[in-house]
Amino acid sequence: MTIVPLAEALAHREQITEWLYKAFGSGNSRAFFASILQSSLSGSDLPLTFVALEGDRAVGTVGLWRCDLISRQDLFPWLAALYVDEGCRGRGISEKLQQRVREESHQRGYADLYLYSACADYYERFGWRYIGDALDYPDRAVRLYHQPLRAG
Ligand SMILES: CC(C)(COP(=O)(O)OP(=O)(O)OC[C@H]1O[C@@H](n2cnc3c(N)ncnc32)[C@H](O)[C@@H]1OP(=O)(O)O)[C@@H](O)C(=O)NCCC(=O)NCCS
Repeated sequence: MTIVPLAEALAHREQITEWLYKAFGSGNSRAFFASILQSSLSGSDLPLTFVALEGDRAVGTVGLWRCDLISRQDLFPWLAALYVDEGCRGRGISEKLQQRVREESHQRGYADLYLYSACADYYERFGWRYIGDALDYPDRAVRLYHQPLRAG
């Protein structure tokens, strides 16, 4: 498996939009996720989208975003939009995608990484520390996680 920036996996752009829309979207928010992918191709520092590939097939994706939770703009940057194709789950692909984001963040000099999730007892196993709750707009309670980025 290789993990590449979206710019090197453009053939899978529609597939990734579909995954994110179905997993994290609501209503007709497909264009919202398409626009995030578009902005991650702009050449700016952030956001970044990574794609896990097995041969010609996309098996997962993850983002490194400036902000994923509008109520906590004091925290920066964020691991976001982590998704593994249903048929490929349970093989550790999620962990490799998280590792890619950690490495990229560390290389860029970020000292911290954050994420939010509605799930308990998942991210803890990958070294994330639960640091409290927060609100996703307008009133959905979510769990905040932090991971320090050390040298190495
Ligand atoms: C969550 C997700 C990225 C995991 O990908 P993956 O490559 O299968 O992850 P791993 O192989 O590293 O780990 C699989 C483990 O995570 C557990 N897991 C998966 N989804 C979970 C969830 N929502 N809450 C708690 N544990 C979960 C699996 O039961 C499995 O446990 P096991 O190792 O004890 O059998 C993938 O299931 C996914 O894309 N889900 C849809 C998006 C989503 O629900 N995101 C929110 C995650 S909290």
